[in-house]
Amino acid sequence: MAANHLLCFLIFSAGIHVISSATDPRDVVALRALKDSWQNTPPSWEKSDDPCGAPWEGVTCINSRVTSLELSSKGLVGELTNDIGGLTELRTLDLSLNTGLKGPIPPQLGGLKKLHMLLLSGCSFTGSIPSELGNLVELSFLDVSSNSLTGEIPPSLGNISGLYLLDLSDNQMTGSLPVSNPITPGLDLLKNAKHFHLYDNQFSGTIPAALFSADMTLIHLFLDGNQLVGRIPSSIGLVQTLQMIRLNGNALTGTVPANLRNLTNVNFLSLAQNKLTGPLPDLSGMNSLNYVDLSNNPFDQSEAPNWFTSLQSLITLILKNNAFNGTLDMGINITKRLQLVDLQNNQISSLVLGYNNTLMLSGNPICTVEPNAKYCKNQSK
Ligand SMILES: *[C@@H]1O[C@H](CO)[C@@H](O)[C@H](O)[C@H]1NC(C)=O
Ligand SMILES: *[C@@H]1O[C@H](CO)[C@@H](O)[C@H](O)[C@H]1NC(C)=O
Ligand SMILES: *[C@@H]1O[C@H](CO)[C@@H](O)[C@H](O)[C@H]1NC(C)=O
Ligand SMILES: *[C@@H]1O[C@H](CO)[C@@H](O)[C@H](O)[C@H]1NC(C)=O
Ligand SMILES: *[C@@H]1O[C@H](CO)[C@@H](O)[C@H](O)[C@H]1NC(C)=O
Repeated sequence: MAANHLLCFLIFSAGIHVISSATDPRDVVALRALKDSWQNTPPSWEKSDDPCGAPWEGVTCINSRVTSLELSSKGLVGELTNDIGGLTELRTLDLSLNTGLKGPIPPQLGGLKKLHMLLLSGCSFTGSIPSELGNLVELSFLDVSSNSLTGEIPPSLGNISGLYLLDLSDNQMTGSLPVSNPITPGLDLLKNAKHFHLYDNQFSGTIPAALFSADMTLIHLFLDGNQLVGRIPSSIGLVQTLQMIRLNGNALTGTVPANLRNLTNVNFLSLAQNKLTGPLPDLSGMNSLNYVDLSNNPFDQSEAPNWFTSLQSLITLILKNNAFNGTLDMGINITKRLQLVDLQNNQISSLVLGYNNTLMLSGNPICTVEPNAKYCKNQSK
């Protein structure tokens, strides 16, 4: 009799417990499974079985469903298991800066159709980016930077038409930059993207001309530190919204397209450390420029340029290790904003100087004549 009462009580209280939970049972199951696969989950995750009601740190809910999981920099250790696929109402997943999170990015993420932000940067994820992520049509932010990802960019990512940020930087990804064809999508379809951060990988092949079009809205194009070859496509000049262009540290060849000058919103331009030939591009008219680095390219030998004196916003100009000769004219109209001009290791033999800030000319013939001049002693690393 007493035993029966106790049993009834246990069933009753267990029933109350489930009814009073503020969390949908499907989400409880998924979160518990994730908890079991991770070390260092926040202490509040031990204290309740109701992640929404007696809230678990980093978990946000709407109407009993988990809508965001934000656990950046928690020291999490373990894998992101398939269980994440159970949180079907998730809009934000931020697991960034947990260097102990390893293993592959599960393809089940592609089932989280409401996902708006997927932030996995600064962890230790390996393997390739699952093509299923292309199913995340609501996604705005995809940041998987600074992991150990390999493999190619899935063309399916081109299907995420509302994507704002694509950050794959600082991984070991390979292959070419995918553009669309009649059968598969590609990055050229990302007309709403503002940021292509694809630097410091091992991407190869050419920069496809079809990647760029006039209806794109890119502001940051970061392709530096890859193994890209071929010419800079002139179609880049169509993307009027561009503000920062980094193509440095590749193996690009040929001449710089003249219509680069059309990009008058660009404030940062680095084409350094490539194999660009032909005349040094004349960037006059690019009046927003404040940082220009064209160093370390085999441009044609020519007189030291003076177009830069017309750029009123310019702060830094780096043209070292090129082949400029003759007279460097920094006599008139030098903007007061200009702070650094680095023309080391060129063929400059004379100078007209009306400029007070840092000038670096070591490695030029003028410095064999005037070795003690300030501009001959200044050296960058
Ligand atoms: C891209 O989206 C289209 C239309 O929804 C779909 O038919 C196609 O299979 C998708 N492609 C990839 C590679 O996901
Ligand atoms: C540069 O821009 C101007 C005006 O926006 C346009 O008429 C011209 O065709 C462009 N030139 C190139 C080479 O794209
Ligand atoms: C600079 O180099 C160009 C191309 O080699 C040459 O035509 C020109 O005479 C040179 N100028 C000076 C001052 O050495
Ligand atoms: C210097 O600036 C003045 C005023 O902006 C302009 O009239 C002149 O043409 C400029 N000179 C050179 C050599 O650029
Ligand atoms: C150079 O600097 C000195 C002192 O810092 C200043 O008095 C002078 O006006 C400057 N000259 C130019 C051309 O800017």
